[in-house]
Amino acid sequence: MRIGVEPENLAERAVLAMGLVPTPLLATHPVLLLARAIMVATKYGMFEALTSGSLDASDVAKRCGTHSGATETLLGSLAKAGYVAMDSNRFLLTALTRKWLLESSPRSLRDSVLFRYVEWDWIARLDDFVEHGQPLDFHAMMSGDEWQLYQRGMRSLAALAAPETVRRVRVPKDARRLLDVGGSHGFLSVAFCRRYPQLRAEVLDLPEAVEHAAPLLGAEGMDDRVVHRVGDARTEDMGHEIYDVILLAQLVHHFDAATNRDLVARLARSLRPGGVLVVQEISPRGERSGQLGGLGSLYFALTSYAGSWSFEEIASWQSDAGLVPRKPVWFRTLPDTGQQVASKPR
Ligand SMILES: C[S@@+](CC[C@H](N)C(=O)[O-])C[C@H]1O[C@@H](n2cnc3c(N)ncnc32)[C@H](O)[C@@H]1O
Repeated sequence: MRIGVEPENLAERAVLAMGLVPTPLLATHPVLLLARAIMVATKYGMFEALTSGSLDASDVAKRCGTHSGATETLLGSLAKAGYVAMDSNRFLLTALTRKWLLESSPRSLRDSVLFRYVEWDWIARLDDFVEHGQPLDFHAMMSGDEWQLYQRGMRSLAALAAPETVRRVRVPKDARRLLDVGGSHGFLSVAFCRRYPQLRAEVLDLPEAVEHAAPLLGAEGMDDRVVHRVGDARTEDMGHEIYDVILLAQLVHHFDAATNRDLVARLARSLRPGGVLVVQEISPRGERSGQLGGLGSLYFALTSYAGSWSFEEIASWQSDAGLVPRKPVWFRTLPDTGQQVASKPR
């Protein structure tokens, strides 16, 4: 999947093919503005205001507590980008917005979009990172509100990831216990437990994460089978031959190689014979990685002490820990996302 410049008519298609379109200009100025316009409309609840039907800009502004003229300009520009439609002077939701941005949609990215406000400031520090090589280590610097946006944002992405995550894992027949390391909201565990009624799950995460993720997990009504456990994956004793399935989803990019090697060794010890360790990552390094993968690597390098790892590197930690790595699996429903699974010999 690529993001890029799309022609809107035949003449534009021709000049694009001839290399005459100033793509660096288009990849910066309007991209910045579109991103922020979507964020602002989401934050002020403009899309939600339109759920009950079309409104003119002054009515949207009244409901959202914004300036009428500026709201009209913002919505007008979002209409050109397909996020709202216009009928005379009234604005309407589009299918795209209904599906991805309304809070009530099962595929809502609203909370992920709101987390962009936190990331906006991080990305502004890319210059410093490139100059000095010092990453942000964001887990150590977030405020309480930012932790909440982080956990809610992760939960909204997990709703997209969960169906294929569950479908792709061959859960051992007699599996009873699942450990979800860095599991945050616990939604992946919930999805596994709904699919496998005999499973129970522990969701391990840092105290700040659990504080803000607890209500998200509570809303699933699975308290009897999916529980949070406060701990630090870098030091936690995971026990000996306890778990049948261990999930490590979107965590290894936060740690350096030595930390991951040690973590995978402790997890291998805590797996029962026949159990599986599922390492799931977005934008792993490697030949298959495209434009999004390249940007993902930069993002993780900026925000953590490590950055992306390739599935070959992850498989090497698994085999060094005595597990048997399988071929990596690439998701069909999410771009640049896959699993590196390994099993413990019986
Ligand atoms: C990118 S989120 C992924 C959440 C979830 N696994 C998913 O795929 O949606 C990473 C999670 O790892 C947690 N985390 C980061 N460092 C950790 C550590 N040292 N120990 C435990 N959890 C950690 C974060 O708090 C966060 O909830």
